[in-house]
Amino acid sequence: DPALVEEGAKVFRKCQACHQVGPDAQNRVGPELNGLIGRTVAGVDGFSYSGAMQSAGEDGVIWTEEHLAEFLANPRETYQGTKMSFAGLRSEDEIAAVTAYIQSESPE
Ligand code: HEM
Repeated sequence: DPALVEEGAKVFRKCQACHQVGPDAQNRVGPELNGLIGRTVAGVDGFSYSGAMQSAGEDGVIWTEEHLAEFLANPRETYQGTKMSFAGLRSEDEIAAVTAYIQSESPE
């Protein structure tokens, strides 16, 4: 849905200080987000995650749309001890939009 992706680009401004997505994406304060949906939690090689995310990844937890929505609504509650200093997104619409944007920007 192109309108949702466009809305998501605006929402992603809140993430851009720390995250990149796209063909040239690098790890910065946070890990790159290419192909996020379907990735194992804490799955980017070379990024130093919190213990909370690291152990979820070791348990095989996957970033589904549902898990991502839960996390983005309240990062610090979903992963207690997370290194992500971000209060979260207020609305389900913003979460759906930013998720669509991340998927659309990810290389095939
Ligand atoms: C981790 C998304 C905003 C810093 C993550 C992860 C996701 C994510 C999905 C886990 C990635 C993985 O498992 O590989 C987002 C989105 C944001 C946002 C969509 C905006 C809505 C921010 C901001 C910062 C930040 C503003 C910095 C102030 C981090 C850090 C981690 C992380 C440091 C690693 C967390 C840990 O190891 O516990 N983010 N993020 N993020 N993010 Fe964000």
